[in-house]
Amino acid sequence: MELRDKVAIVTGATSGIGRAVAINLHQAGMKLVLTGRRTNRLNELSETLGQAAYLVGDIVEPDVPKQLIRTAQSHFNRCDVIINNAGMIEVGEVPDIDIEKVCAMVRLNTEAAFRVIFTSCKYFLDNGGGHIINTSSVLGSRVRQPFGAYAGTKAAIEALSEALRLELAGTGVAISCIQPGLVMSEIYDDWPVHPSKARGIDPPLQPEDIARCIRFILEQPAHVRVPRLMVLPESQVT
Ligand SMILES: NC(=O)c1ccc[n+]([C@@H]2O[C@H](COP(=O)([O-])OP(=O)(O)OC[C@H]3O[C@@H](n4cnc5c(N)ncnc54)[C@H](OP(=O)(O)O)[C@@H]3O)[C@@H](O)[C@H]2O)c1
Repeated sequence: MELRDKVAIVTGATSGIGRAVAINLHQAGMKLVLTGRRTNRLNELSETLGQAAYLVGDIVEPDVPKQLIRTAQSHFNRCDVIINNAGMIEVGEVPDIDIEKVCAMVRLNTEAAFRVIFTSCKYFLDNGGGHIINTSSVLGSRVRQPFGAYAGTKAAIEALSEALRLELAGTGVAISCIQPGLVMSEIYDDWPVHPSKARGIDPPLQPEDIARCIRFILEQPAHVRVPRLMVLPESQVT
């Protein structure tokens, strides 16, 4: 797809992978609708990118996915791409795991992600096509303890995406999952030891590495589909 002047919504655009994707797609000439909960970050990024549109909101709120499409329509009169990226991670072994935080993760990583997927699929079907890219994880297809609950949230997205790829074949609606390994971002900020140190993954990926791969998926010709792309640091072996 030629990206120039096409319109992308990026969820989780205030940091890490989402922010890097927004910058990369802006450099490709795309128009952007950014979202996240932190107004100051959205405001700063929007100005950096020459007045990208943005919507401040908690993506778990049921109406936000529709509001995002409406924002794209009202600012740019179209929407071509959704980067379904907002997410969190909660891990732990049985005696210590915080069940309420796990459930909050399920609402964000799975419930909200499903709502974004179905809302955008309906819009794309009614408007001649489009591409949804979900930020899954290498754990979406490989389970490791004590990451089971997080892996489950990502495996759910992978399963839905594959079913929709089959259902929507021939409609012009594309759906892909990107499966990053360890990426430096804010997602591990409250961990006592960063996993790159704990697991000897040095260097980890940078958000820009994932952004480049997402752009690669989007730039394929119309007859090509990339349902799933795993991207790992050279030294990540587990
Ligand atoms: N980093 C890794 O190693 C790694 C590996 C594989 C997959 N991933 C996946 O990559 C995605 C992005 O993560 P990241 O590593 O870039 O982490 P990050 O820097 O913590 O970014 C997370 C983004 O999600 C947004 N977000 C979180 N909760 C939200 C909510 N309730 N409503 C709206 N937005 C919310 C945050 O924005 P606000 O706080 O402003 O709302 C932020 O922009 C996630 O889906 C994650 O599971 C990460």
